[in-house]
Amino acid sequence: MPVLTDGLRSPACFPIAIVICGPIFPEMPRPCSSLFVTFLWIAWVCQAQEESVNPGINAAYLRDDLIVTEWIERLENEGREIAANRAEIIRQAGITPGSTVADVGTGTGLFLPLLAEAAGSTGKVYAIDIVQKFLDHIEVQKARLGLDNVETVLCSERSIGLPADSIDVAFICAVYHHFEYPRDSLASIHRALRPGGRVVLIDFKRIPGESANWILNHMRAGQEVFEAEITAAGFTKSAEITGLLASNYFVIFTKSESRSGSPVMGL
Ligand SMILES: C[S@@+](CC[C@H](N)C(=O)[O-])C[C@H]1O[C@@H](n2cnc3c(N)ncnc32)[C@H](O)[C@@H]1O
Repeated sequence: MPVLTDGLRSPACFPIAIVICGPIFPEMPRPCSSLFVTFLWIAWVCQAQEESVNPGINAAYLRDDLIVTEWIERLENEGREIAANRAEIIRQAGITPGSTVADVGTGTGLFLPLLAEAAGSTGKVYAIDIVQKFLDHIEVQKARLGLDNVETVLCSERSIGLPADSIDVAFICAVYHHFEYPRDSLASIHRALRPGGRVVLIDFKRIPGESANWILNHMRAGQEVFEAEITAAGFTKSAEITGLLASNYFVIFTKSESRSGSPVMGL
């Protein structure tokens, strides 16, 4: 019940809890019962807080001595399936002129020139990441390439940091498995998407017995589990693009009317 638990984490619940629970402890003096309710509420908030599903997964990105050029070599290398097919990926993602797109976990900004072109001068692209050094690099590229419709956003590991109803598409390539708090990050994406908005998900296939060891070790789960988590967060799978990528899956979800599902972490 993500809506319920999110709601209970709201500070607004505290006075309501005192009013509701106060009479439950009539024998206690009023200050004691209030203190007791406070204690219970804090205990509930602490246990309701999502825990990291993969502690340390972003250690390489969060290092103070991160060298951006090393990541450009890795992420923008044409030997990387994603980089080699980036133009076709963006074409098949179906981004229309005038759209507002969040490039969630933009990294070195591999997709930004293509996303900026697809969104056009009436659209907008938010380049979002948890790493300020990547965003500094993107600001330089933005000026150099004239990417006027791109705006950088430093986000947290729990939220993409955009206002409600502000985007049409959340583009998430090679990033979902880096979400330490997928339920929280997905809730922020759901909130930021306008009605009918879409999530474009691309990530490594993880198939025990087939995938390389480094993928089996690096990825906490495969497509089925990630799809179940995203569906539970209030999205409906609407398309899967096959035939373009070999090592990655490419799936599109549409925002459902409400976040009705239950969290399925650990499936
Ligand atoms: C493998 S890189 C992918 C970069 C880019 N999307 C690409 O495909 O070239 C993963 C990126 O996700 C970012 N990241 C990790 N956790 C994140 C989170 N919770 N929210 C936003 N970005 C995150 C990392 O800092 C890193 O830049």
